[in-house]
Amino acid sequence: MISSPTVSDFSLELLDWYHRQNYDFSWRKTKDPYSVWISEVMLQQTRVSTVLPYYSRWLFFLPDIRSVANNNIDNILKLWEGLGYYNRARNFYLACTIIIEKHGGKIPEDPVEFSKLPGVGPYICAAVMSIAFNIPLPAVDGNAVRVISRLNSINIPYPKSKKKIHSLLSGLINSAKPGCFNQAVMDLGREICTSKGPACSACPICKYCSAHINNDVDKYPMRTKNTPRPHYNIAVAIIWHNKRILISKRKSTGLLGGLWEFPGGKIQSGESGPSRVVRKAREALNILVNPGAPIKQIKHSYSHFSITVDAYRCVFVGSQPRALGYDDFRWIYPYETQQFAFHRSNHKLFDKIDGAATV
Ligand code: ADE
Repeated sequence: MISSPTVSDFSLELLDWYHRQNYDFSWRKTKDPYSVWISEVMLQQTRVSTVLPYYSRWLFFLPDIRSVANNNIDNILKLWEGLGYYNRARNFYLACTIIIEKHGGKIPEDPVEFSKLPGVGPYICAAVMSIAFNIPLPAVDGNAVRVISRLNSINIPYPKSKKKIHSLLSGLINSAKPGCFNQAVMDLGREICTSKGPACSACPICKYCSAHINNDVDKYPMRTKNTPRPHYNIAVAIIWHNKRILISKRKSTGLLGGLWEFPGGKIQSGESGPSRVVRKAREALNILVNPGAPIKQIKHSYSHFSITVDAYRCVFVGSQPRALGYDDFRWIYPYETQQFAFHRSNHKLFDKIDGAATV
């Protein structure tokens, strides 16, 4: 960033733009720390447009810390269903129970205390403390990384540049309105200083931006070379018995923990899809199934890997089911899927269950 005019001119011009844009997201209509916190947890890895309906629904059913702490994790996960990164919901739930037990139901106003709660990393801490309590901590999310990397032509690849970005933002943050400042940087990154095709001509701070002045905005933020994401082939079983299907609940620890799914798993090399579902049913549920035709193939992407899922219609042959590799299982009618929190890839199979020929 060029040094003149001053840092305070920069921050005032950014804030002036922020107030003129006036994005009136529902979470900006309150300073209630609980509402701010849950909005930031949702927004941390999810787009604004996706979060809007989840946020309203959450506050309707769970208006405060106590309502979360008094609930159970299955209901919490059901409200979170489809948002992804389910650890966010589990941590938020745990944090609320701790706030009831150790903080008298009040969210700590001290960043050090707040950071001790599960799921509260530097970003969440800074966002909540600045917006709800006016504490001047810079919230470094992907938008801030892009804006500051360009503003200062930071030639260190991300994430190595994180410390530097944090310290530069600390020097820029407006201490009278830290929450607005942080959200202004987020808005600028989302609407103007975008990864592809940034709208520099509409940028309120382009005159301070080193990358813009040097005409090399696309160079920033520098990144270390991406290693390709692994891809896995998964086989899943839709197991029918007496017009019902078997669903299973993943173990609470680990990826997608506590969510429901149709039983299945990664296909090993040399293994076929049908033999994989037979093995899964035996090892994880103690049952014998007879696999039939494949009914659907879907593709799904996670942040660190992608999958192709082949679903097989299976007939239950026998033995008493036991949740060996799962936390739980149920025989349900197809219309009952709505009552359970399924992870997203399995939602894409629901259309092959409703109205399917039953056994
Ligand atoms: N992304 C993360 N926090 C946000 C907020 N408060 N407003 C808009 N986008 C955000």
